[in-house]
Amino acid sequence: MKPVGKVLCATGVVAGLIAFFWKDDFNPESLSGARVLVTGASAGIGEQIAYHCARFGAEIVLTARREAVLQKVMEKCLTLGAKKIFYIPADMSSPSEPEKVVQFAVQKLDLEFSCRITLVPGFGAMETKSCFLDSVFFIQVNFLSYVALATAALPTLEKNRGVLVVVSSLTGKMPTPFTTSYSATKFALEGFFSSLRHELIMQKRDVSVTLCILGLIDTESALEYTRGKVHLSACPAPEAALAIVRGGAARAHEIFYPRWLQQLCCLWALVPSSGNQVLRTFYNYSSP
Ligand SMILES: NC(=O)c1ccc[n+]([C@@H]2O[C@H](COP(=O)([O-])OP(=O)(O)OC[C@H]3O[C@@H](n4cnc5c(N)ncnc54)[C@H](OP(=O)(O)O)[C@@H]3O)[C@@H](O)[C@H]2O)c1
Ligand SMILES: *[C@@H]1O[C@H](CO)[C@@H](O)[C@H](O)[C@H]1NC(C)=O
Repeated sequence: MKPVGKVLCATGVVAGLIAFFWKDDFNPESLSGARVLVTGASAGIGEQIAYHCARFGAEIVLTARREAVLQKVMEKCLTLGAKKIFYIPADMSSPSEPEKVVQFAVQKLDLEFSCRITLVPGFGAMETKSCFLDSVFFIQVNFLSYVALATAALPTLEKNRGVLVVVSSLTGKMPTPFTTSYSATKFALEGFFSSLRHELIMQKRDVSVTLCILGLIDTESALEYTRGKVHLSACPAPEAALAIVRGGAARAHEIFYPRWLQQLCCLWALVPSSGNQVLRTFYNYSSP
């Protein structure tokens, strides 16, 4: 039997690897020869996901907008051990691109395609100039494109016991200040993909959906948006990426990185108003 295909669409950065952090049931062998589509693969968490998949011997399709950067990531993946690798430049703010990307991946990786879809386009909205325009843009890039990618990949995933990996954020569970549009898209991802997971299970369709709830990760874009604004330390992107890859490989429904975010969410649900008060103290903001 061939390993199950996976489509990974991710945008992001992560680094690091902590053995005690992982469940023991992760078997890197299971990723050898797996077919993975990584979105947001030119930088940040997505780039690190690509490197982990390469080390585990996966066959990979990378996508993001910047072709020259994708080429560099591709070369590094080859030196790390990727079995096969391709890239396709695409801008997820255009509604037709997600399907094109999935078709490219299905074709290049031969149908029997392990798809893990991790999508990680754009961080942002700390300083919103036009809330409305921002929302429209975010909804396309951070939500609708994920839906389109998943829709296009689902038939192939179904044939291969595939995995959809969706990169979300703490702010998709627990709203945080100065992230209005961004938070809205992460809540939308949570609703859409958790509902989809129910359906797939009830219909006995063997595609797993892994939602990844991340805290602050030290990617360049995240650090730039949060510098001087929050009193929080960021976790390493390679480590976050590994948590994501392992979660997908284990067919987990949800993973939290760092892990204590899970307890934080439970606590916040129990005492939301004190939780929100404490949360606001982590922000460096004084009203004019
Ligand atoms: N970093 C954090 O603190 C953090 C926390 C929680 C969740 N997350 C989530 O993790 C994911 C990755 O975040 P990150 O910090 O790694 O971001 P990042 O470093 O800014 O990387 C973003 C990636 O997305 C690609 N991208 C951006 N806009 C795109 C578009 N319109 N079309 C196609 N690709 C696009 C970028 O490549 P090009 O510029 O080449 O297109 C890049 O590869 C996001 O979903 C984010 O919400 C991050
Ligand atoms: C808080 O913000 C002010 C200006 O907005 C800045 O000068 C200061 O350095 C920030 N403090 C921290 C601890 O980042």
